[in-house]
Amino acid sequence: MLSLIRFAFVFSALLGLAQAALHPIEVKGNAFFNSKSGDRFFIRGVDYQPGGSSNLTDPLADEDVCSRDVPYFKDLGINTIRVYSVDNSADHDACMKLLDDAGIYLLLDVNTPDASISRLDPGCSYNSDYLQNVFATIDAFESYDNVLGFFAGNEVINNVDTLFAAPYVKAVVRDMKKYIKARSYRSIPVGYSSADIASVRVELAHYFNCGNDTNARVDMFGINDYSWCGHSSFSVSGYSEKVSLYEGYSVPMFLSEYGCNEVSGARPFTEVGSIYSTQMSGVFSGGLVYEYSEEGSNYGLVTIDGDSVTTSTDFDNLKSELNSTSNPSGDGGYSKSNSISSCPTDWNFTIAVPDTPDGAETYFKNGAGTPLGFDVGDTQGSCDDDVTLITTTNVKTTSSKTKSVSKTTTTKESSSSSTATSTSTTTSSSSKAMAAAAEYGSLATLFTVLCSVLLL
Ligand SMILES: *[C@@H]1O[C@H](CO)[C@@H](O)[C@H](O)[C@H]1NC(C)=O
Ligand SMILES: *[C@@H]1O[C@H](CO)[C@@H](O)[C@H](O)[C@H]1NC(C)=O
Ligand SMILES: *[C@@H]1O[C@H](CO)[C@@H](O)[C@H](O)[C@H]1NC(C)=O
Ligand SMILES: *[C@@H]1O[C@H](CO)[C@@H](O)[C@H](O)[C@H]1NC(C)=O
Repeated sequence: MLSLIRFAFVFSALLGLAQAALHPIEVKGNAFFNSKSGDRFFIRGVDYQPGGSSNLTDPLADEDVCSRDVPYFKDLGINTIRVYSVDNSADHDACMKLLDDAGIYLLLDVNTPDASISRLDPGCSYNSDYLQNVFATIDAFESYDNVLGFFAGNEVINNVDTLFAAPYVKAVVRDMKKYIKARSYRSIPVGYSSADIASVRVELAHYFNCGNDTNARVDMFGINDYSWCGHSSFSVSGYSEKVSLYEGYSVPMFLSEYGCNEVSGARPFTEVGSIYSTQMSGVFSGGLVYEYSEEGSNYGLVTIDGDSVTTSTDFDNLKSELNSTSNPSGDGGYSKSNSISSCPTDWNFTIAVPDTPDGAETYFKNGAGTPLGFDVGDTQGSCDDDVTLITTTNVKTTSSKTKSVSKTTTTKESSSSSTATSTSTTTSSSSKAMAAAAEYGSLATLFTVLCSVLLL
């Protein structure tokens, strides 16, 4: 009886926790769909990296930061943000709940500047210390229904000379998809966010979507495209050409960054009218404007000063464009019958996707283990360890992990202020969890009583 009561309590507590506002987004054909309503989902988003790309902070680990900004996301009328780096050891419950309540999904890059594939030495940077960090980031976010997808990389290939890094990024895609399956997580889409490089753009997109290994093919493909500047048009901007170039691509594509700032005065964001029209919706599924906050490069929609946020004319223009542009009706002419791409045949290096480093195999079976957060350090420099990992036994694996953990500990001591911040976040979110538990207390009691009655 006691165990039944306990079961009833746990069950109803689970019911409470599962009451997220948003339902997962899933991929069908070349588009996204809401898994509950079945409606096509178009990304209406903004890229979010307060602090800028040079100041590594996790905006989703600080409730003060996200509660300052989420009202502006709502005001803009967006449904998605993209975050470029997170601290996988931090607590994200409070911010993910605020986003969920506001109807906002998250596209998350799993890399940090130092824990990422190096475009100069990709083979070396693709190692098990790096993958541990990637997998621990997946662990930290997989349970939130409003995670729309993960990016395995952003603009790793930034010109024709760095194209040879592509097989390593594709290996990361494969490992992430394998990890998500091995850990029995929800099938969260995994993709790549590509720089728009004229000479290789189409081949690169096809490379990520070719080959017989389903795990190694992306579930979605983002393009950072700044070709529509000011009061341009569908044809003048080159958007029409892009639609033709990518027509027939078999997974969802979208603009993972847009918003050319080579204009005098404020950005008018007239591209919004095209992005959410049937001119594009057969191939593209919306996009994200670069970027929420002004970080010194003149792309900000708002200026942040401590707790205060000041919106700009860009903000007003985007808000007005989004509001006056509805999504295409019905399924927007998506395609569910496109074929996977053909692999490039004329690249001057081997396009085979490299094997997972031996040292990382354990993570598929046992999980990634302790998240090391931003203190993971420079995994691009774990190359020597990894060469050892690939050629020797598990004993060496352990010693190399121990080494990176002790490196981490040293860093942690020197950054006590950031540790203090994350501690206070944890405290406030755990008190929120207690408040939530109290809220569901009455439901639990009701359930328990019902069970007892049924038993009698
Ligand atoms: C980095 O970002 C944090 C959080 O926004 C801010 O408190 C800090 O002052 C920034 N540091 C620099 C060097 O800009
Ligand atoms: C492949 O071609 C690119 C572009 O022409 C060149 O930069 C690169 O050095 C070549 N790589 C090899 C291995 O020949
Ligand atoms: C993919 O599978 C087909 C059919 O099984 C086979 O003919 C083809 O060679 C395979 N391609 C690659 C790149 O492995
Ligand atoms: C525009 O704003 C109005 C008022 O807030 C709202 O009812 C409407 O749904 C918005 N339209 C779009 C396309 O977001």
